This record gives sequence, structure tokens and C-alpha cells, in this order.
Amino acid sequence: MRPHCAHGPVAFYQRSSVNGGADPLTRLFAPSRLACAFRSGDERMVRIAVLASGSGSNAQRLIEHFAQHAKARVVLVGCDQPEAGVLQRAWDLGVPSYLFNGAELKDGTVQQELQGQRVDLVVLAGFMRLIPAALVKAFPQRIVNIHPALLPRYGGKGMYGHHVHEAVVAAKEKESGITIHYVNERYDEGEHLFQAKCPVLPEDTPDTLAARIHALEHAHYPQVVENLVNSMQHP
Ligand code: GRF
Repeated sequence: MRPHCAHGPVAFYQRSSVNGGADPLTRLFAPSRLACAFRSGDERMVRIAVLASGSGSNAQRLIEHFAQHAKARVVLVGCDQPEAGVLQRAWDLGVPSYLFNGAELKDGTVQQELQGQRVDLVVLAGFMRLIPAALVKAFPQRIVNIHPALLPRYGGKGMYGHHVHEAVVAAKEKESGITIHYVNERYDEGEHLFQAKCPVLPEDTPDTLAARIHALEHAHYPQVVENLVNSMQHP
């Protein structure tokens, strides 16, 4: 039976047909206090969807940062990888998840879901797919991404996750960092909102650099998104 909380139905965790999943319509429900909280919340809340493909440590920081926030809430975690750690994190934190595949991203299904959930701001946190032009157009200056390097260097197609840190270490760079930027229809090319730097040490491996970069991301991404929320005109 579909679970309810005091404020109405709890939003869902949707299993779609990613990787040929047997039952594209299976819906599991995540009862949670958090889900109830945002359902009962102020209609003027900025509703944030986080899209992620991997572990989801940034997604978790964002969810926690906005859990008690006066103006915004993470209301949905969208994911394109059924085995991604971010799904467990979202479940544990009581945030509804939405699992989709590449075709659903391209054909407008994901856009419909985001609009149906009245999402105001889309935050990419380790999301591996290109955002289609129609989705960019539907959320003008309302989609942001974090990249684990100092763009425009070490960005573009194929430059993600470990590939970035391997390239930076191989080039013997003295510094690296993070870039938070608006998303357009090309990988890593949107207008920059924020950058922070960290050293690359001679003894660094891609793993040790990745750990330093992750710490930088966790320290800054929620606050940069909060600044964006504060700048948004929301009815
Ligand atoms: C982060 O390094 C982010 O910059 C990149 O993907 C990684 C995601 O890490 N786009 P996590 O899944 O949030 O731990």
C-alpha cells in the first residue's frame, strides 16, 4: 500500500527500465520525515533537484545543507545508474529518488518529471550525461554543475572523475581546484559561478588529489547553491 505521512502521500522512488530492468513501472516508496517536511512546507520554497550518477557525496552534502533551510529544499535526487551509491544516500536521508535512463533524458521524460515535481533549480553533482538543449532551455540559468578542475582546462567530453585527476597529475600541474558553473548544452562550457584552488603536491596520485578536491567541493558547493537560491526571484 502506498504509504502516507501526516501531510499526504510520500513521494516515490521510481525504478525505470535502465539496463533492461524487468519492470519499468515498479514504484517503491520511501517513507520519511524529510519527505513529509517538504510536502508540508512553504510553497515559496525553492525546490532543488540533484542529478547524480555516482557515489553522491556532494548530493548528500547538499541534502543535509538544505534540510532545515528557510528558503530551499532538495526535493528529488535524479539518477541514471541503478547501482549508484547516491540512491542509497538519498534513501537514508529520506529524499525521493527518480531513476531514469539516457533515452528518457533525451526524449523529454526527465524534463516532464522535473516540471511535474515543480523543480526550480537543478544541481548536477557527478552527473555523467550531457544535458539536452531542451532541458537547458526549460531551466534557463537554473542548472548548475560542479567540475573537479579549474575550467576551461581539463574539461570537455571524457574529462570526468578520475580522468581529470590523472591528467592533472600527469601534467605535473602545481594547482588544481573546482569550478561551479551554469550548464549549457555543451560539456563544461557554461558561465562560471565560482572557482576554488588547491595545491597539487609532487607526491600526489590521482587518488590523493581526488580526496583533496572532494573536500573542496563539500566545503563550497552547498554555499554556492545557497547564494544562487538567495539571488533567485521566487514567487
Ligand atoms: C565530483 O568530483 C564532481 O566534481 C564530479 O564528480 C564527482 C562526484 O563525486 N563532477 P560524488 O559522487 O559527489 O562523491
